[in-house]
Amino acid sequence: MSAELRLAVLISGQGSNLRALIDATAADDFPAKIVMVISNKDDAPGLKHAEAADISTLIISRNTCSNHADFEAEMTKAMEHHNVHLVCLAGFMTLLSNHFVTHWYNRIINIHPSLLPAFKGLDVHERAINAGVKFTGCTVHYVRFKMDTGPIIIQAITPVITGDKADSLATRVLKQEHIIYPLAVKWIAEGRILMDGERVIVSGAEPPMGVLINPEQCL
Ligand code: GAR
Repeated sequence: MSAELRLAVLISGQGSNLRALIDATAADDFPAKIVMVISNKDDAPGLKHAEAADISTLIISRNTCSNHADFEAEMTKAMEHHNVHLVCLAGFMTLLSNHFVTHWYNRIINIHPSLLPAFKGLDVHERAINAGVKFTGCTVHYVRFKMDTGPIIIQAITPVITGDKADSLATRVLKQEHIIYPLAVKWIAEGRILMDGERVIVSGAEPPMGVLINPEQCL
């Protein structure tokens, strides 16, 4: 993998994951840099993070393109113009076609706020609470054709606490997202990702040896 991996970050909203990637890539020894940010919403609050960091931004709205294929073609053209190596979806709330995913195959990753394959799609925190799970979390994965599927690079878990509402849980999960997304990008940039079929092996990563139980035992 290249000494400095060139990233495009695609957003639609707040951009807190974009912000985490900007902060991580600002370190001199981080092996990747963000060369452009694309938003499909012209009013995405996250754009301000890119502007503050002097990163080139581009708004490509589905509404101003005649069809979805043109929308994706515009994104690909812009990213190829910037010589992008890796596409990072960071709250980019638009489905991508098989054509686009094939074009960027194994060069496009996503962060999702659940322990995939559980709770794909929207309203994940509300659904996790309603399902009564004791842990949820977040996942960074390579993107495949079906929504929120693909080889898992890293996950972090977050306990679901009695009384949690979607907002409180989302806040705790987001904190973990901001840790694992830069880590996944770093591993890719360092060439540490090995594929065993559709499973990811990270060379040099230590397995956690602990066991987590929620609720914990009380005497
Ligand atoms: C994040 O929680 C991210 O995992 C989620 O959208 C949020 C974006 O927050 N993505 C998805 O649900 C994708 N399926 P952010 O704009 O503050 O980074």
